[in-house]
Amino acid sequence: MSFHRELPYNDLPDLPPKADVESIAILKSAIRANKAIAELKISGHLIPNQAVLIQTLGLSEAKLSSEIENIVTTNDELYRAFAEGNRNIEPQTKEVLFYKDALWFGYNALTQNKRLLTTPLFVELAQILRNSTQGIRNLPGTKLVNPLGEIKYTPPSGEEIIRKKLANLEQFIHANDSLDPLIKMAIMHYQFEAIHPFSDGNGRTGRILNILFLVDKQLLDIPLLYLSRYIISNKTAYYNHLQQVTETNAWEPWILYMLEGLEQTANTTRKRILAIHRLIQDTAEKVQSQLPRIYSKDLIEVIFRSPYCKIKSLEDSGIAKRQTASTYLKELEQIGILRGIKLGRDIYYVNDAFLKTITDN
Ligand SMILES: Nc1ncnc2c1ncn2[C@@H]1O[C@H](COP(=O)(O)OP(=O)(O)O)[C@@H](O)[C@H]1O
Ligand SMILES: [Mg+2]
Repeated sequence: MSFHRELPYNDLPDLPPKADVESIAILKSAIRANKAIAELKISGHLIPNQAVLIQTLGLSEAKLSSEIENIVTTNDELYRAFAEGNRNIEPQTKEVLFYKDALWFGYNALTQNKRLLTTPLFVELAQILRNSTQGIRNLPGTKLVNPLGEIKYTPPSGEEIIRKKLANLEQFIHANDSLDPLIKMAIMHYQFEAIHPFSDGNGRTGRILNILFLVDKQLLDIPLLYLSRYIISNKTAYYNHLQQVTETNAWEPWILYMLEGLEQTANTTRKRILAIHRLIQDTAEKVQSQLPRIYSKDLIEVIFRSPYCKIKSLEDSGIAKRQTASTYLKELEQIGILRGIKLGRDIYYVNDAFLKTITDN
């Protein structure tokens, strides 16, 4: 089995790996990660409007996952663009919003349309997030190059080979075996990146597949657990572990890396959710006591749907007509819950406490 960094790795071994992927260390780590995820799943039910969670955490993930590929956009711009609808947006911000679209598309495909994690879905996700109609790579020349310009890896070449390897990956994903789903996810992520089916967007598509897989296996009922923050903080290790699986069949360190990420991220996400929950409750109480005339559940929901709210957001939710909606937002500003800012012709009301809770590290 020959591997050479500069030659297409058409000998990439099929799954399952020929290695012990259920060592004691791996199994212990998997138990901890499973426990953390089970607790995260329960905490998700605290937030009555799940759309709030899905939107905000998903948008934050879209930014972070795109950042791994050095598409950097600021939170402010991102959330504003989101409140805005897709007008007049920087190209980088657009990329992030495409990622978010791909994530929701995948989630709906799985949960509403009962589709499976298979090649056609992989292709659609990669198309949406790149805003392109390109499918599986059919031209040679795709290589993974590090910032020093060194070729680290050359993925398999030829559409037929790529499709065969994807078919094997699908079989592995859906096999009715006893392998712990979290271990399976780690293996799947390596294999997807090693196949590298697209000319671009493989990292982002692969990370969307991870979360969809967790939902598919019912470890989570909504997409809540995103590894990008962990990967950014441990980026060199991410690349090295992937490389070491290829070069030395070092599955255990890779799987442990991913399980550790799942556990850590499940714990921090649960804390974030608890903080959001507390903030929503405190805000509702404050509005109820200081502005009882305008309080409604729907109003609280709108100001927590996105950290940037517009008069139109209230109108669209049927809370009030334009004039009244404007008064409501000004009153919320007076009691310190929102902060009005003018950008171009538009006025936005920023929920600073909420913005801080979802973007804090
Ligand atoms: N040595 C490696 N072997 C396999 N995959 C790798 C390796 N190094 C990095 N990767 C994966 O390749 C991704 C980058 O591929 P790319 O197609 O440009 O995706 P994106 O455009 O989403 O960044 C990284 O995010 C990572 O997941
Ligand atoms: Mg790229």
